[in-house]
Parts: sequence; C-alpha cells; structure tokens
Amino acid sequence: MRAQRHAVESMHGMVTSATASASEAGVEILKKGGNAIDATIATGLALAVTYPRAGNIGGGGFTVLRMADGRSVAIDFRERAPASATRDMYLDDKGNVAPGRSTIGRLAAGVPGTIAGFAELHRNYGSGKVSWAEVLEPARRLAHDGIIVTPALARDLAASRNFLSQFPESNRIFLRDGHLLQAGERWIQEDLACTLERLQRQGPREFYEGETARMLANDMARHGGLITLDDLRAYRAVKRDVLRGSYRGFEILTMPPPSSGGIALLQMLGMLESREVASLGHNSAAKIHLFAEVMRRAFRDRAEFLGDPDFVTVPTAGMLDRDYLKERMADFDPSHATRSEGMAAGEPRGASAARRSITGRRESNETTHYSVIDAQGNAAATTYTLNGLFGNGVTVPGAGFLLNNEMDDFTSKVGVKNLYGLIQGESNAIAGGKRPLSSMTPTLVLKDGAPFLITGSPGGPTIINTTLLVITNIIDHSMKVTQAVDAPRFHHQWMPDTINYEPFLTSLDSMRMLEAMGHRLTARKLYPNDPEASARYWGDAESILIDSKSGTRFGASDPRSADSAAIGY
Ligand code: DON
Repeated sequence: MRAQRHAVESMHGMVTSATASASEAGVEILKKGGNAIDATIATGLALAVTYPRAGNIGGGGFTVLRMADGRSVAIDFRERAPASATRDMYLDDKGNVAPGRSTIGRLAAGVPGTIAGFAELHRNYGSGKVSWAEVLEPARRLAHDGIIVTPALARDLAASRNFLSQFPESNRIFLRDGHLLQAGERWIQEDLACTLERLQRQGPREFYEGETARMLANDMARHGGLITLDDLRAYRAVKRDVLRGSYRGFEILTMPPPSSGGIALLQMLGMLESREVASLGHNSAAKIHLFAEVMRRAFRDRAEFLGDPDFVTVPTAGMLDRDYLKERMADFDPSHATRSEGMAAGEPRGASAARRSITGRRESNETTHYSVIDAQGNAAATTYTLNGLFGNGVTVPGAGFLLNNEMDDFTSKVGVKNLYGLIQGESNAIAGGKRPLSSMTPTLVLKDGAPFLITGSPGGPTIINTTLLVITNIIDHSMKVTQAVDAPRFHHQWMPDTINYEPFLTSLDSMRMLEAMGHRLTARKLYPNDPEASARYWGDAESILIDSKSGTRFGASDPRSADSAAIGY
C-alpha cells in the first residue's frame, strides 16, 4: 500500500461528503450552533445543488443517527411506489421487461422522500437553535449565487448528454441547451433556488402539498407518469429502530429493512467474528477467500428473504442469530471456493415460504454517502440517492430538480436483471405504497458506548461490502481511517460467481492461489471514453473516525470521488 495520506483532524465538528461546498454547508450550520442533525440536512441539500448526479430532493434515502444522550434511530425516507403502481407495470404485452421503462422517464420514479426525511430529522433531532429556513439557506445560496463548476461535474454532465437531452427541461438546465457547462464557470440554478426558498418560507410540507407538489403532479399527469397529488400528500418518512449488532467488542448501529444493507453487514460480521482475520494478513489469498465466502452467503440470503417490512415478513432475528450464522458457515472450506450455482439460502427462524431468486452485479456511483459529527458527539450517517446517474433524467419543469428512478430497485420480473444486474425475488415485488429494497448501509460503530466510526458508501450492491471492508480494515487490521478507506476493494455477491476487484488488490501469486481454490476473479471493465479510468474503482466511503481518548475527529474523504472533502473545525 502506498504511503498514507493524512486524515483531516478537528476537535469539534466534522463533515465528510462528496463535495467541498456541501461539507462546508454542514460546518457552517454547526458553527451557527446547529447540531450534527441540522448539519446533515444542510449538507444533504447542498449536495442536491453541487452533486446533481446523486444529491437530491427528488429521491430518497436513509439516516442512521445516535444522539450524545444515547438515543438512536434510523430515519427511512426511501421513495414509495405510487398508489397505482402494479406488479407487472414494467412488462410489455408479451410479459417481457420493457427496456428502459423502469429506469428512464416518469414511470420510473418513486414518490420522493428526501424532504420529508429531513423535516423529520429537524423536528425531532435538530438542536432547536437553527430554524428550518436557516438549515436550507446554504443550499439556497449555492443555487442562487451559483457554484464554480469543477472538472468532475463538467465531465459528469457531458457524459450524460444523450440521456439528459431526451427531456427538454433537463436539457435546458443541466445541458444549457447544448452549451455544456465548462470547468471554472459559475453555474446558477435559479429554479432550484426558488424551490428551496418556497420550502424555507412555507415549510417542508410545501414539497408534498404546495406549488412544488403541483408542478410535479402536473408534469406526471401530462406525460403519463403515475405520481399524483394524493401520493405526494400521503408520503411520510418512517422512524425505525436501528439494527444493532456487535463485532469484537464494538457496537454496530446500522440500517434495517427496507435496506438489505444492515442485515447483510451484520450477517457477514457475525460469520467472521468466530474466525481469525487479523492473522491472515490484509488481502492475503486466505483473507480474500474467507471474505468472499462470507459475502456469497449473505448475498444469497439477501436475494431470498428481504423486502419492505411493511409489506413482507423479514426474518431479521433469525438471519442474525449466532447459531444460524455458524450453521451458514458450516460448509466453509479454507482451501476451496463454494459454488454459487445451486447454493441454497439458509433457513433462518421466522422465514416465510422460501422464494428463489438470483443476483448479478454491476456497480456505479450514482448514490452518495456522507458523515457528520458535532462537538457534543451527536453523530449521523446518511446515504441517499436518485438511483441511476441523474435519476430518471426528468427535471420537474419550473422546480429545477431531477427525479429518481428508484422503481428499478423493485423486482420488475423474477429472474430478470435490473440496472445493477440484480435479479430479485417475490419479497421485493412492486405494490402501490411499497418501498423498493435497497443496499444502502449508513452505519455507526460505537466503542465503549461512544461514536467511533461513521461510514457508508454508494455503489449499489457493492455498498454493503465496501462498508464491511472499511470496518474490518480498522478493527481487524488496525488501519487508520484513511488507509481503511483508500485500501483496494473486492466484491462478491453470490451471482455472478466471481470476485470483482479493484486494481492492486493483491499480488499475482495470491490471485493465482485464489484461482486454484476455484474462484473466478474479474477486474472491473473500463467504460469506453472514461477519461480517468475511474470506473475501475467503486464506492465513495466518506468516513469519520473518533479517537475515544482525545476526542479528535479524523475525517477521511474517499479519494475515488474527485470533489469530496472532509471539513472540520
Ligand atoms: O438503494 C439502492 O441500493 C440503490 N438504489 C443504490 C444505487 C447506488 O448506489 C448507485 N450508485 N452508486
């Protein structure tokens, strides 16, 4: 591994996110007396302005938080299917999945949750010292005064030209009718600034019941979309109990369903805990083998059992039971890879009728994760998304923001791949009002009852394994947080039966040993025209580690993300 870069250190607050302006927005609110939750909202909204590929108000996501007084909660602001959505809505008249229907255009959008989630956070967990209007102000200012376009933003927009130009309002705002934004230019988003101002003046319900809601619903009605004013009015963020686990004496607080992330993460940690990891050495063949086998098993179960808990029974306790996880690893062979083909899911207590499903994979960075801690020790991990790059491509006319294509995270048809190559089961079938299954894994690790690590990542199914690797790099391999974030990643998700790996994962000898055990290894393919070859890497694990003795906050932005920054004070 190369020489180690330094983390950003601070003694009070810290924000790590995919753009420097968004991290600054969070710090601005902390300095005004806001807490980590207020800063979470400010950072999230600033990402909606500065990182439009994923930052959003037209999408949804999850925040896992822990207050300094010990309270913890998971806020679920995942999109919901519109009430009129139906199980087979993406199939053509022959019963095949109609290409693009669940990913491009209005039909792909779920009812956005971000503003409802942020309102819930502000109302129940904010400091009470900064008003709703104040937490929105940094984002409104960025939209109104403009941001300086970075090379990465210019490149992102140019690369999505064909996609965005299909929709006139997106063409106007994000492609300036063909006069592409250039690095170094100031970019003003007046419509978005007005939307944020309406939300400041009228409060968060404006998004669901006011002018913004009408703009969205009218556009849907005009173009055959499903989201109605009633859908918007009915949307609520949901408070859920955080999913709790432990690993080698550290406590883990993570996201429960409708994300699969927390359960899979805790399953993998549970399978690893009874085994030696540190002594195997970082990214030795033996270590990669063990982890790939653990990943394979967790992803097999994910495909089988998980969906929106408000619609299907998820056997969470059974899946996390120590004896169950031991049983799951009973056939682990230290010198041979298990075959994914024909591998059965486990039989956890509480599972309803087993469902058969198969997953494949393809990763990308169209989601974003950010971490916040304040001087008091309130901590929040947030991952939110439009799903695909720039969501469904549709900008709500007059409102200045893009909509998600989160409906594609549902099972369009059992056995057929979605955008990320996932083939999913019945538990995740489409139904009106249901939330699609996610892989987002915002996570807090506690040491001696206090926040120790705040982490998570984008990357579709790779999110879960990225989070696992960051945590185990620190706990098992005693890495500093920057090393843990920088270290090359690998990913197995049961199907396809392969270990996908980043450049420089391990030595050629170790790769040959893995192949001799029966593993297939796949380097991620380069995308054509990718100027940086950055597509060989995945994730953006914006993380913060807190030293329990000194209280120092170490911010580690992820070098895979060009504009990311850790900012503290
Ligand atoms: O919720 C999910 O799992 C996906 N919609 C996340 C998509 C994602 O992470 C894309 N980019 N990195």
